[in-house]
Amino acid sequence: MYKIIACFCLLLCFCVVEAQETIQTGKVKLTVGLDREGTPVYSVSLGDRPVVLPSRMGFALKEDSLFYKGFVWKGVERRTVDETWQPVWGEVRDIRNRYEELTVHLEKGDRLLDIVFRVFEDGVGFRYVFPRQAGLKYFVVSDELTQFALAGDHKTFWIPGDYDTNEYPYTTSKLSQVDNASLVAASTDIAVRVAPDPQSVQTPLMMKTADGLYLNIHEAGLVGYSAMQLHVDTKRFVLSAELVPDAVGNKAYLHAPFATPWRTVIVSDKAADILASKMILNLNEPSKVVRTDWIHPTKFVGVWWEMQTGKGTWSYSDYPDSVVRGGGLVPSGKHSANTANVKRYIDFAAANRIGAVLVEGWNVGWEDWFGNWKENVFDFVTPYPDFDVKEITSYAASKGVAMIMHNETSGSATNYERQMDTAFRFMANWGYHSVKTGYVGKIIPRGEHHDGQWMVDHYVRVAEKAAQYQVMLDAHEPVRPTGLQRTYPNWMACEASRGNEYNAFSNGNAPEHETILPFTRLMGGPMDYTPGIFKLRGYSPVPGRQVHTTLAKQLALYVTLYSPLQMAADLPENYSAHMDAFQFIKDVPVDWDDTKILEAEPGDYLTIVRKEKGKENWFLGAVTDEQARTMSVSLGFLAKGKKYKAIIYKDGLGADWKSNPEVYAIETLTVDSGSKLMVKLAPGGGAAVSMVPL
Ligand code: NOJ
Ligand code: CA
Repeated sequence: MYKIIACFCLLLCFCVVEAQETIQTGKVKLTVGLDREGTPVYSVSLGDRPVVLPSRMGFALKEDSLFYKGFVWKGVERRTVDETWQPVWGEVRDIRNRYEELTVHLEKGDRLLDIVFRVFEDGVGFRYVFPRQAGLKYFVVSDELTQFALAGDHKTFWIPGDYDTNEYPYTTSKLSQVDNASLVAASTDIAVRVAPDPQSVQTPLMMKTADGLYLNIHEAGLVGYSAMQLHVDTKRFVLSAELVPDAVGNKAYLHAPFATPWRTVIVSDKAADILASKMILNLNEPSKVVRTDWIHPTKFVGVWWEMQTGKGTWSYSDYPDSVVRGGGLVPSGKHSANTANVKRYIDFAAANRIGAVLVEGWNVGWEDWFGNWKENVFDFVTPYPDFDVKEITSYAASKGVAMIMHNETSGSATNYERQMDTAFRFMANWGYHSVKTGYVGKIIPRGEHHDGQWMVDHYVRVAEKAAQYQVMLDAHEPVRPTGLQRTYPNWMACEASRGNEYNAFSNGNAPEHETILPFTRLMGGPMDYTPGIFKLRGYSPVPGRQVHTTLAKQLALYVTLYSPLQMAADLPENYSAHMDAFQFIKDVPVDWDDTKILEAEPGDYLTIVRKEKGKENWFLGAVTDEQARTMSVSLGFLAKGKKYKAIIYKDGLGADWKSNPEVYAIETLTVDSGSKLMVKLAPGGGAAVSMVPL
């Protein structure tokens, strides 16, 4: 009933009267025109099924609060593109970029606006372009008014709108039930807090319609603009763009010519197609980094989980830095980033073909870094007295292990900006080719947000600076990715979501969490989730804390959650207790020629296989939510006529994420392209398989 009323209202409001144009690729069709008020209106369908009903486009500008109506249609241009390109690293070797493009030229008085639409086989992207013009030069966006009018009360996997963090657990509900106030009231989770708009959600937003269409809304190529969140009209199922404001409430400061990020709608009747979509990458610009031969995906271990779980500390001293500054630091005896301990991780990496070691808490400032909203906590070049940079870097080099730098900014982006060259020169001098950055806390400049235009520009500046120094980047607490890894292939990964670490310092991540992430956060790019915890209980002094998966599922995550910088997050001693299972982490690559999504349902399960870059080896990862299930797949992707040795790492008898998470079994089989593989997954469980030609 609602659906019918909603459609009717929308048709009345957006009755398109002028210059209606249609573009189509495969079954995806987009229609655009102007309504009676001169407002641009678009709609999207898949075959005969509506995906986006007629929806408004436009802006409120400081210069014209009605820059969404009164437009005159000046004409269109069309273009067809079909090309194939190769990413520097990724889930597949070749990416086909095939679309129909339509550019609509609009005019309002002396002001011009173009809207560029691209229709792909698996969805649509569109962006606004402000051409060079006399009527708009420097101007301010008060609001972007883009809408996505949906055809029903879809099932939605969402996190609340928040200008500063996306480290939320997912809620699955109908669109009509999006209600952040109730969520906050009902939740004890440390990350769940009052949202600026009680009916707002973040993207990538994953939805499923009652008749089985899968729908994903996000954005591509977020540069020079603020991130888009979505206000949900819970009665009419209309989503409206809500840009993250700056300190004084403006949404973006622009200078024509300017093109906004792409708004993306990916759609299919198969969940697997959503995960296989390359549309967001395709909408991004080709690499701006000319020489890329220094960019190497790698696995790493790190002096990290021991601090997350309280065994050690980032800080060197027990006293706040403000107390000891000038008076010398007093060692607490718990400082993890000490030379001897770091060498232990280097030894483990060297012995186990893990390419790199991350060390956090190596530089002065951690005594006083958290929550104090202080500007100059870190200088990024001064090690604690027990961290011998020279000895560590030469020791690592002698063992063929790379070191990963850590630059926590504690949200003070201005401080980082000022010291960035010094920080990267330090990396260059000591041979660090990767950096993990962090933005915990409130942003300085004060009043700016993690996802606003100022910070969006900052993250890109850091990626560019890193490229200049040939450093690979992994950003924690940045805005969520939008496919910019195509343009900056040294920007390998981001956190920008709720990682495995929440199992250390909160009630953790529900078993379904990792079945939702690929459909949401990872649609924009790789995530530094930090998988590979083997000691799943008893790692924390806080009673009841545990990782909400089995051990086999931790292995599966190396395949299902793609990242070219992939951590083996647990302590060396916990791996030493299970070296037979660790073999999978040793073997699994971080760069791929091919990827196939064999089974998928958001919130429930997924099974993915990937072929190692330049090799004939295949790796499978299967995960389930809190429900046990039997994974059942055909191995038809294997080369015909070849035999493979398959090693299956699976949940052991009686495995269960809650009561018996660490029991696993390893089985070796000979398989070929005619084989079928059936593996039982425990509640919260998973399976990982390596297949290597005999
Ligand atoms: C939060 C990051 O997600 C985590 O990985 C890091 O250890 C801490 N901040 C400290 O920088
Ligand atoms: Ca984090």
